[in-house]
Amino acid sequence: MSCKRSIKVPQSLEQLVQCLHEIFEDDEINVDEVREIMASYVSKEQDWRKYANYDPYRFTRNLVDEGNGKFNLIVLCWGEGQGSSIHDHTDSHCFLKVLDGKLKETLYHWPTDSQEEKPLEVKSTTFVQRDDVTYINDSIGLHRMENTSHSDTACSLHLYCPPFDMCNSFDQRTGHKQACKVTFWSKYGTRTPFKPSGN
Ligand SMILES: [Fe+2]
Repeated sequence: MSCKRSIKVPQSLEQLVQCLHEIFEDDEINVDEVREIMASYVSKEQDWRKYANYDPYRFTRNLVDEGNGKFNLIVLCWGEGQGSSIHDHTDSHCFLKVLDGKLKETLYHWPTDSQEEKPLEVKSTTFVQRDDVTYINDSIGLHRMENTSHSDTACSLHLYCPPFDMCNSFDQRTGHKQACKVTFWSKYGTRTPFKPSGN
């Protein structure tokens, strides 16, 4: 399926953003439509280079667009061997398209009983390849994303709808959760000034 509005197949990240704005004018979102339009864009490095910032210690989040308040579009940059915590998605839809390299997604079941210490159970493991799109929400489970390569970086484009700035990360061994704040390394291609987080 192509974008039913002004753009058929987005030829650039800019056109993809425009197309997403049109799709999200509707109050109901169609998960397949968003997924397919994100998949139809063929990743070109010149489109996203200005958002691709790497940190030697952890992956970075780089804000691309605030989607008229309806969604956040973010480029995540993963250095060699870097990965996320196991986390939830605050009742939002999360779409992830790989722009460069590949990412391993490990899906976990939610912990059954928050009182009891029990390792989280793996539901599935998949590799998401360049230009492929994966989707998750809280009803599917929790996940961890990783760049398992020790020689190549990876880069991914994430769409969160509605946007959120807090989520929970989970300890794989105990299932215990901890709230964490979502921060940006850069916004619209400009480094975000450092602010102490206060915790
Ligand atoms: Fe996620």
